Amino acid sequence: MSELSNEIRRRRTFAIISHPDAGKTTLTEKLLLFGGAIHVAGAVKSNKIRKTATSDWMEIEKQRGISVATSVMGFDYEGYKINILDTPGHQDFAEDTYRTLTAVDSVIIVVDIAKGVEAQTRKLMEVCRMRKTPVMIFVNKMDREGIEPFDLLDELEQELKIHVRPLSWPIDMGARFKGVYNIYEKKLDLYTQSKQYITESIQFKDINNPELEQHIGEKEAKKLRADLELIEGVYPEFDSPKEDENTSQTGLDKYLEGDLAPVFFGSALNNFGVKELLDCFVQIAPSPRPVRTEEKQVVPEEDPFSGFVFKIHANMDPNHRSCIAFLKICSGKFERNTNYKHVRFDKMMKFTQATAFMAQKKETVDEAFAGDIIGLPDTGNFKIGDTVTAGETLHFKGLPSFSPEMFKYIENADPMKAKQLNKGIDQLMDEGVAQLFVNQFNGRKIIGTVGQLQFEVIQYRLLHEYGAQCKWESLNLYKACWIESDSAEALENFKKRKHQYMAIDKEGRDVFLADSAYVLQMAQQDFKDIRFHFSSEF
Ligand code: G4P
Repeated sequence: MSELSNEIRRRRTFAIISHPDAGKTTLTEKLLLFGGAIHVAGAVKSNKIRKTATSDWMEIEKQRGISVATSVMGFDYEGYKINILDTPGHQDFAEDTYRTLTAVDSVIIVVDIAKGVEAQTRKLMEVCRMRKTPVMIFVNKMDREGIEPFDLLDELEQELKIHVRPLSWPIDMGARFKGVYNIYEKKLDLYTQSKQYITESIQFKDINNPELEQHIGEKEAKKLRADLELIEGVYPEFDSPKEDENTSQTGLDKYLEGDLAPVFFGSALNNFGVKELLDCFVQIAPSPRPVRTEEKQVVPEEDPFSGFVFKIHANMDPNHRSCIAFLKICSGKFERNTNYKHVRFDKMMKFTQATAFMAQKKETVDEAFAGDIIGLPDTGNFKIGDTVTAGETLHFKGLPSFSPEMFKYIENADPMKAKQLNKGIDQLMDEGVAQLFVNQFNGRKIIGTVGQLQFEVIQYRLLHEYGAQCKWESLNLYKACWIESDSAEALENFKKRKHQYMAIDKEGRDVFLADSAYVLQMAQQDFKDIRFHFSSEF
């Protein structure tokens, strides 16, 4: 195998997602500890917005500043190169998370045993499902009382709309928690409450071995055997991928297709069940997958380098207006001081200061491979979705915008600074801070966000970075729908009939702004030739 394919196959690029407080930061930290990337617990600063500071977004930005360093955490583990992509903890920045999900090859979802599936997880799972991203689930906080495990599995299936398959199984929970049986490796892992040490595990190939009683007691041993029998009877087998077209699909095939989520149980805080998760993860999680572009399918092992920008992080210091554009390498190898093509500009550029993210440190990168994320210092050259290649003209697909949740008209509050305002809005939208729609009826600009905080961020940044003042005017809208039709006539007719509610997005696509669920439903009923989408890619 060539060096290139070797390097690519050992890469595991993924994100950990969860509802705030389920334990994402703790799990990330423990994975870094196992990977040797950090040596003491507490080294990863949570990018979770502290509850006391939710209205103070400057504070949030300070915390976000910390998170640049932890945006991508790369480390080597047992011959694998792991890249964990961090996602913002605050739901007002959910759009950032959606975009990060376009750059990963798989996802680990953390669920709190006491809370089950929560709102944010449900939403993020929708994005994974759309992209058929392989998903693993870590059920956290087993040291606390929570939902009965079989009930939780049902809940996961129903709420996340994905099949599940436990690969480890808890022995009781809360104060009585004794450990887990690692189904994947046929081992019994006994739990000792400790925040610093990894527990020992005992190989237990045959669960009927009477020694089981000695470790967990008679009652628990009986229950564990019964539970495991039930699991084997109810959930699909999980072993090696199918050998040819004729063999039926195994759980592993289904996982790789995004149809089935293996489930692990543990307690991240107590270091328990995390290594089991990581060991299984590196073995079964996919290495970088082929990526679609408008022109062709790009295979990671292809020699020419290519990648796309999925995130732009601005430095909030007004004296040093600079950004980092995060680029996911989709094929080949990136080399420092080489000329690469910025496809939108149709221009060759050289990146001397690209950074790699290893063990939380940013360092100048000499070479990086498909699957890796590199940071390109940027002074306004990049926008989200931009492609960089060795020379080919490619446009990566699959960076959708989702319908915002909140909308406001943006108005100029200082007539002398109209130019600055427009420039500021343009650049902030390119960075992906929020979405811009222009109403076709009255020409007014509408900003769409996921949460209130983004409006505050925009107002502050317009003033401090562009010297422009804006004011907001409330606008009650339910959803922005991207519309299409096979019939140009039907589309024109719809646009005419709904002209007051038609807008175009930043890419010039038609968007219908529905002011209520009822209006949307009626429009769907009355205009059968029109398809309504809640994301810009369909
Ligand atoms: P997040 O990034 O998903 O928002 O969650 P985070 O890891 O910050 O964890 C949220 C809270 O849950 C933290 O407590 C953390 O210590 C706790 N936690 C994480 N894993 C476990 C676990 O396995 N068992 C138990 N019992 N608790 C767990 P906190 O009090 O909010 O923060 P901190 O002051 O401890 O940092």
